[in-house]
Amino acid sequence: MNQKIFKPIRKAVFPVAGLGTRFLPATKSMPKEMLPLVDRPLIQHAFEEAREAGIEEFIFVTGRGKELLEEHFDYQPELEQTLESRGKFDMLEKVKTSEMPEGKLFLTRQPKPLGLGHAIWCAKKLIGDEPFAVMLPDDVFLSDTGCLKQMVDCYNEYGGNMMAVMDVPKEDTQKYGVLDIEDDDGKVAKIKGLVEKPKPEDAPSTLSIIGRYILQPEIFDYLSKFEKGAGGEIQLTDAIAHQIGKYPVNGFRFKGKRFDCGGRVGFIEANIAFSLKDKEIGEDVRKIIKSYEGKI
Ligand code: G1P
Repeated sequence: MNQKIFKPIRKAVFPVAGLGTRFLPATKSMPKEMLPLVDRPLIQHAFEEAREAGIEEFIFVTGRGKELLEEHFDYQPELEQTLESRGKFDMLEKVKTSEMPEGKLFLTRQPKPLGLGHAIWCAKKLIGDEPFAVMLPDDVFLSDTGCLKQMVDCYNEYGGNMMAVMDVPKEDTQKYGVLDIEDDDGKVAKIKGLVEKPKPEDAPSTLSIIGRYILQPEIFDYLSKFEKGAGGEIQLTDAIAHQIGKYPVNGFRFKGKRFDCGGRVGFIEANIAFSLKDKEIGEDVRKIIKSYEGKI
């Protein structure tokens, strides 16, 4: 077999400068990425998924009022000593899951909300000349293998640019980047076009981008032009569309359930699903949910 070797995906960009208006007033002074999904903030779910996929460098594109995010991943000696002296070793283990490997967190800022493409462009210097992942912490997955790890495994076969995709209801296409499909084997869809947030009647399909990407550094050539797209914003989708024909551009159908934690309903559903799966509280939560049946 003539298997090509592609450069490994070592770096991931986390755009976290967004305002989180859908959760106001909770997000008035707290970053939306710090909202807890059971016992971990959303950003930690994305961080752990990235680590599982072999990511070594974590690049946060932050903005004003987002300092808590870097604090969260810091080493807290007083807390760890207190837990240790009280014999709370299970809690200590949990705290350690939020520690960033030394020297591996990089921060850059997006000073103005000019769009997702612009946020990624802000990480250009830190990425350099290698392929990288993008993780939108609003999208959370419940799966045996993390979404990014599934993608990296598939990328090692296909190379190029790859996005996590799933079919969405037709009326929802205007919330997503939507694929114009050339070829589809049920797992990998070869893309011949991409449209950001099309109206249902204009959407080329219902197969839509979910917040995980593997991108080639050439994406920065287009992003550096600062061209505005849908909603007057610099769109990552447009930059990827410009790669079609030059590099492989594929959609990857991940295995597992995705939750849109960028809105209240998806966030609450994710909390229910993740807590039902939790070893410590799952059974109690199941009983509580049952107790509400037909009562409210
Ligand atoms: C962004 C992207 C869109 C993608 C979506 C996935 O949109 O622009 O292409 O489908 O994330 O969640 P946003 O949700 O930031 O408006």
